[in-house]
Amino acid sequence: MSTTTSPTGSATAGVATPGIMESGAVESGGVRLRGITQRFAPAGAPVLDGIDLDIAPGEFVCLLGASGCGKSTLLNIVAGLQDPTAGEVVVGGSGSALMFQEPALFPWLTASRNVELALKLRGVPRGERRGRAAELLHLVRLDGAADKRPHELSGGMRQRVALARSLAQERDVLLMDEPFAALDAITRDLLHDELERIWKQTGRTVVFITHNVREAVRLGQRVLLMSSRPGRIAREWRVDVTGERRIEAPDVSRLAIEITNDLREEIRRHAH
Ligand SMILES: Nc1ncnc2c1ncn2[C@@H]1O[C@H](COP(=O)(O)OP(=O)(O)O)[C@@H](O)[C@H]1O
Ligand SMILES: [Mg+2]
Repeated sequence: MSTTTSPTGSATAGVATPGIMESGAVESGGVRLRGITQRFAPAGAPVLDGIDLDIAPGEFVCLLGASGCGKSTLLNIVAGLQDPTAGEVVVGGSGSALMFQEPALFPWLTASRNVELALKLRGVPRGERRGRAAELLHLVRLDGAADKRPHELSGGMRQRVALARSLAQERDVLLMDEPFAALDAITRDLLHDELERIWKQTGRTVVFITHNVREAVRLGQRVLLMSSRPGRIAREWRVDVTGERRIEAPDVSRLAIEITNDLREEIRRHAH
């Protein structure tokens, strides 16, 4: 199996990948972080302090933490958008695609054209883009919306387009920074179901950031709780929920309550 990270691959998306290096030890879709430290000011506590983390190919990991604890900083480092002060990042295979809370679609382009643009940046020939975009819009259940512009779509539909566009980048790792935080609860629940289905269907590795404990337990195979100042992985849980996972399922609630208690403890420790 090919195990090299491809900085040139990311460069086609217009993004440099400092901090990502080649390695024979990480499989496609795997992520390895060693000693990731980030300081924005020379004095004072680092925002991230020596984070070590391994993510397996195809794993769904949720990174949970209070606002300002460094979640986005860590994700940007994995994405290669930011060079850490110290430490090593290896993303195996074709690298990562990043999706944000705000869908950041081009307002003057239709849903299809927004997705086609990502395909173009990846070098997909013009003649294949429309058809491939239609497949991706079908995957996120947006058939029929291909010719609509973002302002004609609901918030949930816009995030579906953004997801299709991220998938169009064909990266092994999908990094999601609070992608559903701005949506109403019902729309969010639906998108949880869709994301779970798409994850299973595509075999992508997903690193999903949230400050919502139930969302983390609903989606993740593993939930990592980050502490603040310094940002570290304070605790982690494997989520073993039997049967269908719903946000209101008793096992989901039980684990969410346990994690919430830890999160509160974590926040209290730093609220001075
Ligand atoms: N480019 C930057 N320069 C200075 N400080 C930053 C920068 N980016 C983030 N920070 C600080 O780092 C901390 C973590 O930010 P962030 O990673 O955005 O947290 P989260 O995503 O968990 O809410 C915050 O205190 C934030 O102000
Ligand atoms: Mg953030």
